[in-house]
Amino acid sequence: MGMSFFSLLLLSLVLSFSQLASSTSQALSKGSYLSVEKPEDVLVSPNGQFSAGFHPVGDNAYCFAIWFSKPPDVRNRTMVWIANRDEPVNGKRSKLSLLKNGNLTLTDADKLQVWATGTVSVSSVQLQLYDTGNLVLITLERVILWQSFDSVTDTILPNQLLTQSTKLVSSRSPSNYSSGFYTFFFDNDNVLRLLYDGREISSAYWPPPWTVSWKAGRTPANNSRIAILDSSGHFQSSDGLEFWSADYGEKLQRRLTLDSDGNVRVYSREEETETWAVTWQAFSSPGVIHGVCGPNSLCIYAPTGLTCSCIPGYKMINRIDWSYGCEPEFNLSCNDGQVGFLKLAHVEFYGYDLGFFPNYTLESCKKLCLHFCCAGFQYKTNTSGINNCFPKSSLLNGQRSPSFGGDLYLKLPEAALSLYDKPIENLSLNCSGEIRQQLDRKYMKRRKNELLRFMLWFACAVGGVEMICFFLVMCFLARNQIPGAIMQGYLLAATGFKKFTYAELKKATRNFSEEIGRGGGGVVYKGILSDHRVVAIKRLNEANQGEAEFLAEVSTIGKLNHMNLIEMWGYCAEGKHRLLVYEYMEHGSLADNLSSVALDWEKRFEIALGTAKCLAYLHEECLEWVLHCDVKPQNILLDSNYHPKVADFGLSKLLNRGGLNDSSFSTIRGTRGYMAPEWVFNLPITSKVDVYSYGIVVLEMVTGKSPMTGVESGGDMEQRRLVAWVREKMNGAATMASWMEEIIDPMIEGKHDTSKMETLAAVALRCVEEDRDERPTMSQVVEMLLRHENDH
Ligand SMILES: *[C@@H]1O[C@H](CO)[C@@H](O)[C@H](O)[C@H]1NC(C)=O
Ligand SMILES: *[C@@H]1O[C@H](CO)[C@@H](O)[C@H](O)[C@H]1NC(C)=O
Ligand SMILES: *[C@@H]1O[C@H](CO)[C@@H](O)[C@H](O)[C@H]1NC(C)=O
Ligand SMILES: *[C@@H]1O[C@H](CO)[C@@H](O)[C@H](O)[C@H]1NC(C)=O
Ligand SMILES: *[C@@H]1O[C@H](CO)[C@@H](O)[C@H](O)[C@H]1NC(C)=O
Ligand SMILES: *[C@@H]1O[C@H](CO)[C@@H](O)[C@H](O)[C@H]1NC(C)=O
Ligand SMILES: *[C@@H]1O[C@H](CO)[C@@H](O)[C@H](O)[C@H]1NC(C)=O
Ligand SMILES: *[C@@H]1O[C@H](CO)[C@@H](O)[C@H](O)[C@H]1NC(C)=O
Ligand SMILES: *[C@@H]1O[C@H](CO)[C@@H](O)[C@H](O)[C@H]1NC(C)=O
Repeated sequence: MGMSFFSLLLLSLVLSFSQLASSTSQALSKGSYLSVEKPEDVLVSPNGQFSAGFHPVGDNAYCFAIWFSKPPDVRNRTMVWIANRDEPVNGKRSKLSLLKNGNLTLTDADKLQVWATGTVSVSSVQLQLYDTGNLVLITLERVILWQSFDSVTDTILPNQLLTQSTKLVSSRSPSNYSSGFYTFFFDNDNVLRLLYDGREISSAYWPPPWTVSWKAGRTPANNSRIAILDSSGHFQSSDGLEFWSADYGEKLQRRLTLDSDGNVRVYSREEETETWAVTWQAFSSPGVIHGVCGPNSLCIYAPTGLTCSCIPGYKMINRIDWSYGCEPEFNLSCNDGQVGFLKLAHVEFYGYDLGFFPNYTLESCKKLCLHFCCAGFQYKTNTSGINNCFPKSSLLNGQRSPSFGGDLYLKLPEAALSLYDKPIENLSLNCSGEIRQQLDRKYMKRRKNELLRFMLWFACAVGGVEMICFFLVMCFLARNQIPGAIMQGYLLAATGFKKFTYAELKKATRNFSEEIGRGGGGVVYKGILSDHRVVAIKRLNEANQGEAEFLAEVSTIGKLNHMNLIEMWGYCAEGKHRLLVYEYMEHGSLADNLSSVALDWEKRFEIALGTAKCLAYLHEECLEWVLHCDVKPQNILLDSNYHPKVADFGLSKLLNRGGLNDSSFSTIRGTRGYMAPEWVFNLPITSKVDVYSYGIVVLEMVTGKSPMTGVESGGDMEQRRLVAWVREKMNGAATMASWMEEIIDPMIEGKHDTSKMETLAAVALRCVEEDRDERPTMSQVVEMLLRHENDH
């Protein structure tokens, strides 16, 4: 009891200290900081128009940014400047600090420096946000050490200079603020230009590259290279570009932004209205921008906006990013006789010609194209009625617009021609924020002695009686296993979940009367908390799990968050008792349901997909790379809608990314029947062990057969009976359908979508390859399943 009292004391001291250190909202002075964890930690300009602080850009990912204070809703903010657009920071413990030496730094959780101004000053310094939207680091003597106006992202504000050293770089998409492919800058000829610098091609597109600059009203003669937009909407550049916005005059809020579609626009807004109006843009036809949709795809201008689509026979390479373009679905060697051409009307692919051949008939152009081993050819009748032929080596810069008079003839396997001869599907170039950016950084586990050092340092900072008291605490704790005790207090502060008392949980479970499961070193009971929430409480076997292991589990799960992952609500560590409190799953585990009629094929497919998503998250996406190491039907729980949630991290392992050959895996983990061969052959353990176990679980769902059936004791080969059986049936079967008939679970036989079940079985077989390099990653599994889902 004493221990927890002291850790509470400790915690409250830490909390009150951090409140003291936190700053006001007018200016930031030396030694203070803005914390990502406090939404109210925001600098506001005196006129209230601008705010600077942490802005969420994705799941647990934040950027330090300046934005227009209105509209107040965080989802509708308009960013003006971002310090760390390509390196978002964690939503916990990240800070923008003005150090004592005058250096303004942005640190991620765990002290990683993400961004700094590198300034030094012995005198007093303040960080202020001006009425103009300029964030300024200024000394008492009014000397400006640093200002945000000197480093732009994609926007300049009125009276902010665009110079030779500043360059606007577009955002990746309206919802992804990281650096995109378009830049607006003064080039070597002193001319303000727009450039697309993509994955495969780079091209200047404005002013049009085929017009000499003076014809576009520009001059290379003036090398001062400055441009400025004033508050009334008049823009003037040293290269002669000058314009007045459509609503020229004072009183408005204005900005000039290089948008993610590659166009430069001036926007203005009345103080009170929510929406920005375009009052000038560099060009009105988006056709001038090359490469937006990537190779082998078409950019289509529809009234609703820009859409991208793959050309027939091709598929998107990266489902969420058009800049990768599309790849062929077929194999076509160059001298293959079986090819044909598909006509795409009003379609133009710009550049990459293998030559220009005037006055060619369609037939001779086809022959020519085949001779050159082309990807297709452009065929165009010019105004004097002559047919010209342009064979293409690659299909880039594609667009379709009714105003284009020519056609593209696409080379495809002859057999597939009729298949692809249908209207092109319009897919939107659309990043509406459905897909959220994930924080992509690795965190070192905070070492316990580091924490101790922090605590000691902290004790020194707290004066007088408190200090003595504190040392008494430390000594007391030292005798009682410091690391664990402090760790608990720390955990409580860092993660949101609740620490329960043993008595509370004993009451909730009515003295541990209703057992609902066993596994992972403990028994699980059903309980009802005092706030009427139904929970699953896992009571760990005291002998099996030491304090360190327990805290590892708690801290691991505390940091994870995924819809297909069991959610932990709290824990208890009192004396010898170790308990974990989870959300309760109505339908128990997958193992309980495998023989239930309720588990139809659709649910099985969804369970396989959800589980794969969760494992992909654990392996690849979350802050700490986690191997589950014990994927089995008992650990996949089902909620009231039969949505799967992966549970039980008793045996899980944190891993550095690419952390092969981890020697700490000295003992075999997992459950027989689901264990990858690496365990047996003592090979390095990687995330592919989970892939293997997952494959077995999916096979079990498809066939209804347990991998354990008929397995006698001992011997690793017997474990793979189920796999061997499925493979045998596959090799023996004449068709896919007859194979499925043989292996499918009798429970769902005749009541399933054969192609979906085939996909499941095929994916599962790939997951259980003996050679771990042959197995797909979990994200590839997700993709394979999703691809199939979309086909239907
Ligand atoms: C954001 O702006 C849009 C368009 O102005 C508006 O429809 C929407 O309600 C706003 N959202 C919020 C959360 O304020
Ligand atoms: C400011 O902080 C950054 C990040 O720690 C560091 O790289 C840089 O050297 C510092 N600059 C000065 C002048 O202290
Ligand atoms: C160059 O441009 C700047 C800014 O527009 C202007 O002040 C200056 O007079 C120009 N110089 C010449 C030689 O035209
Ligand atoms: C795609 O968009 C274009 C332009 O709006 C339209 O003409 C065409 O019918 C659309 N195609 C499909 C399949 O919707
Ligand atoms: C194309 O060829 C590769 C390698 O030869 C093969 O793996 C793949 O299945 C083929 N794809 C199609 C669609 O035939
Ligand atoms: C049409 O193409 C032919 C062949 O290249 C060329 O001689 C002729 O001038 C072109 N006509 C026009 C109007 O461009
Ligand atoms: C185009 O080719 C046809 C047939 O070869 C020829 O009669 C005609 O004169 C050519 N036209 C031009 C403009 O070269
Ligand atoms: C963007 O995509 C989302 C979901 O994919 C869809 O709901 C939304 O309507 C799309 N927006 C546009 C403008 O196409
Ligand atoms: C945002 O863009 C960056 C850089 O191109 C990319 O790494 C990141 O994955 C993108 N985020 C999303 C959610 O697409």
